[in-house]
Amino acid sequence: MVNPFATLKSVVRFGRIETNRVERRMQRAANVHDLRRIAKRRLPGGVFDYIDGAAEDERTYVANEQAFAQAVFSPRVLAGVGSIDTSSTLLGQKVPFPLVLAPTGFTRIADPQGELAVARAAHSAQLPYTLSTLSTRSIEEVRSVSDGRLWFQVYAWRDRGLVKEMVQRAADARYEALMLTVDTAVLGRRERDVRRGFSLPPSIGPKTFIDGALHPSWTFSFLKNEPIRFANVVGNSVGDGASPVTLSDYVNTQFDPNLSWEDIDWLRSIWQGPILVKGIQRVEDAVTASNMGVSGIILSNHGGRQLDGSPATFSLISPVADAVNGTTEIFVDGGVRRGSDVVKAVAAGATGAMIGRAYLYGLGAGGEQGVRKVLNWFQADIERTMYLIGARSMSELDRTFLAQQ
Ligand code: GLV
Repeated sequence: MVNPFATLKSVVRFGRIETNRVERRMQRAANVHDLRRIAKRRLPGGVFDYIDGAAEDERTYVANEQAFAQAVFSPRVLAGVGSIDTSSTLLGQKVPFPLVLAPTGFTRIADPQGELAVARAAHSAQLPYTLSTLSTRSIEEVRSVSDGRLWFQVYAWRDRGLVKEMVQRAADARYEALMLTVDTAVLGRRERDVRRGFSLPPSIGPKTFIDGALHPSWTFSFLKNEPIRFANVVGNSVGDGASPVTLSDYVNTQFDPNLSWEDIDWLRSIWQGPILVKGIQRVEDAVTASNMGVSGIILSNHGGRQLDGSPATFSLISPVADAVNGTTEIFVDGGVRRGSDVVKAVAAGATGAMIGRAYLYGLGAGGEQGVRKVLNWFQADIERTMYLIGARSMSELDRTFLAQQ
């Protein structure tokens, strides 16, 4: 007769008890969507919706993700993929895989460390991190925690003197590249924020009191830490967020809708390094940017947060790659949630991809550890995908790896 206890003993396995509180919270997360759910639980609704939401009916936001979902691989078998090289070159320097952390405003609302946590995680993954003009840690603070590759995102303030001063600070702090955002003549209408009366920094008033009370750990850390400010303009007359403002009021009064191609020449006159243009959404503009000699363009609709009704960014990659023909680097963002999306983007003709929400979900779910987890998943996903489609290196990826639809 079989001893049931012996059988039981042979099958029972006790998992290691996770002692790290933050890891325990994320233990069951297998992908970015899971971290999004955890972040949604942890953050006040208004904060989560600012990060997660997009403009108007959020059609472009959805279209961005769907375009990646609808792109299907055409795997090559028996390709002798004994070893895989996921590395690539961005702006002339090697990266372990072609991913950049995109600029995001107000990162400290997701976690008190904010941009410092993201910069550390990016550095340890050896990836470039782009600090936003509207960051809540300053250009210098971020440099002080990272010796890695830092890029600086520029908005066109009406006060060009302020832009010049920030660009100089970025140069002094050894930032490598400037990324000019060109899709924000005015702010998109983010209707989740309108409904919530969301301001930046978040204000705890009658509308948000219950939201704050239902998320005590976030509220406690928000109150315990130094006030959230537009760290790059603290004390400046343009306003540093010391008193809450709606982002649309701020952007619509401070940013210059009159921005034009001439401003790229102006930027070049005050900055020696590479310039990237973020927010290109049509082939002609990609060609103009490339003819002007910019180092890179970012096919982006601001994650669907600006013009609802913009094309899904994935759909722009191939036509733009054909038109610019290798004269400038092509990045894509919007809807990039896992490594296979990066592989699809590169196969379609992009140099690399950028992520914004994907790392913010990680940050909201588990601070710096959450961001590291996301970046580790991306690396592992990219490698696994390349094994499974039979591509040995990034340079081997081309459109033959995508099925014609
Ligand atoms: C800022 O750039 C935002 O999209 O909220």
